[in-house]
Amino acid sequence: MDIITALVDHHQTLRQLYAASEEDPQQFAEFSRHLVVHHTMEEKYFYDLLQMIADARHDALEAVNEHHIIELIIKDAEGFPRDHANFPIKVEGLGEYTTHHLDEEEADIFPLARTLIAAEDLTALGKLFLEAKEKLLNIDLPEIPKALQAQATSAAAPVSSARGLGIGSLK
Ligand SMILES: [Fe+2]
Ligand SMILES: [Fe+2]
Repeated sequence: MDIITALVDHHQTLRQLYAASEEDPQQFAEFSRHLVVHHTMEEKYFYDLLQMIADARHDALEAVNEHHIIELIIKDAEGFPRDHANFPIKVEGLGEYTTHHLDEEEADIFPLARTLIAAEDLTALGKLFLEAKEKLLNIDLPEIPKALQAQATSAAAPVSSARGLGIGSLK
């Protein structure tokens, strides 16, 4: 599978995870995890190369800058309580900006890249992308102990203080 097909494939997963997060805020963590991993791999195996090609440099830099903006939106949403009535608005903002970015890649950047990068190179990059994706998304992080979770929950600040989760009080 070439890198562009592999990226478009993962875009479909991202769109599904966005839809799932709109239904259930608990799905947000999985959506943002895939999104951050997608950016890491897309930059390493696609944009780092594309930005070295003069005809694509501006588009590549613009796309990577959009990744940074999306990650700022993720950070903002992560600091907001999941059970807050307005949390879905945070998910919607992230999803809309992300959808716009994915659509633009598929409509403009990927077709341009196909004209600038040789087919065998796209295939070699696709293989690396799929290997990295398999490794990065199958990491299973151990959960923190239940007692520590309970302590963190009881120390959490009221909902009005969206960012003060009280984690600093844990010793
Ligand atoms: Fe992207
Ligand atoms: Fe992408």
